[in-house]
Amino acid sequence: MNLIYGNISSKEAMRLEETYGAHNYHPLPVVLAKGEGAKVWDPEGKEYFDFLSAYSAVNQGHCHPKIINALIEQAKTLTLTSRAFYNNKLGEYEKFVTDFFGYEMVLPMNTGAEAVETAFKLARKWGYEKKGISENEAIIVFAEGNFHGRTTTIISASTDPDCRKDFGPFTPGIAIITYNDVNALDRLLSEKGEKIAAFIVEPIQGEAGVFVPDENYLKDCFDICKKHNVLFVADEVQTGIARTGRLLCSEYAGIKPDITILGKAISGGVLPVSAVLSSKEIMLCIKPGEHGSTFGGFPLACTVAKAALEVVDEENLTEKAEKLGKIFRAEMRKIDSKMVELVRGKGLLNAVIIKPTNGKEAWDVCIQLKENGLLAKPTHQHIIRFAPPLVITETELMEAIEIIRKTILEMS
Ligand SMILES: Cc1ncc(COP(=O)(O)O)c(C=O)c1O
Repeated sequence: MNLIYGNISSKEAMRLEETYGAHNYHPLPVVLAKGEGAKVWDPEGKEYFDFLSAYSAVNQGHCHPKIINALIEQAKTLTLTSRAFYNNKLGEYEKFVTDFFGYEMVLPMNTGAEAVETAFKLARKWGYEKKGISENEAIIVFAEGNFHGRTTTIISASTDPDCRKDFGPFTPGIAIITYNDVNALDRLLSEKGEKIAAFIVEPIQGEAGVFVPDENYLKDCFDICKKHNVLFVADEVQTGIARTGRLLCSEYAGIKPDITILGKAISGGVLPVSAVLSSKEIMLCIKPGEHGSTFGGFPLACTVAKAALEVVDEENLTEKAEKLGKIFRAEMRKIDSKMVELVRGKGLLNAVIIKPTNGKEAWDVCIQLKENGLLAKPTHQHIIRFAPPLVITETELMEAIEIIRKTILEMS
């Protein structure tokens, strides 16, 4: 076999994962061995457009040279110190990232789930210390259909049976309301507002299938939270960092959440880096020794994240996402097939709802897209998310659109 990238074949790589790795994912049968910009290659050299971008972590494109150079240079100098000591990269990054997103303080973590956990703990702490909620009574509100990660507390707020089944008992102090229903939040806060510390919400529900709420939803929720002295927390792990055509998706609503949670693309998909951004008043509720992580804010992460955010600015990725997103949705809506039931999204975070046709569902469409040179993954049975790296050029996007059009027409 002629292997162009790596020394094991796709077949062998899949066999090894299947045999020695836990079966906690159900990947599309494709093995990736190399990535550059918006494209990836398998070990045999077949080229694909990446329309998942590692769940929106690779917004800056695969192996962006500026980010990789920053990684290499810093890796040769200093990688990890722990927070037992100061390091010469963290403070500089903290100033940079807070200026970049317009917040006073940041608490650096590694994965998205850890950052959500951090925001959850921070909100509880604020609830007791500043709002005066009685001990152990604080409630954090979430929306139905959410996805915030996989830790036990986070899945305690999930409504997806796959996330929860046989993982109980769950963390108490959580209330769940319908997403995109302002009245549900209003009712809950009117009833129990004095015990509620925060409402944690995704500006667009990504994993739920790129569910875009009504235009007024976030702003109205924000106002209701303010009325009841409840923190409004935006989980922008997937929607943040230019993906939706704004640096932060909550900008569409004209609001500044009390806490914003970021992950994924903050490092351009190079290292696990996440962040919780907030005001001094809220952030300083957490005191030394009360929360942390060995890796959180490590010099390598700080250097990589700074470079990754600079790329967002230097390459105008926010404006690009907005412009190319409009083209993408318009072209998808033009596909003359009953299989395309609905197209929705913002910027380059989009979904096509697939109407099962000739016994073929979203998964089958993704398999056929793969054959035709484009990788995307279904979220749920009938929804395909399309989220290419934001560095994709307009010419590449048109090529990719042609693959999707051809594939859907072939299968209809
Ligand atoms: C909105 C949101 N929050 C949190 C997470 C969890 O991030 P991680 O997988 O890095 O823990 C995700 C992951 O998809 C997400 O989409």
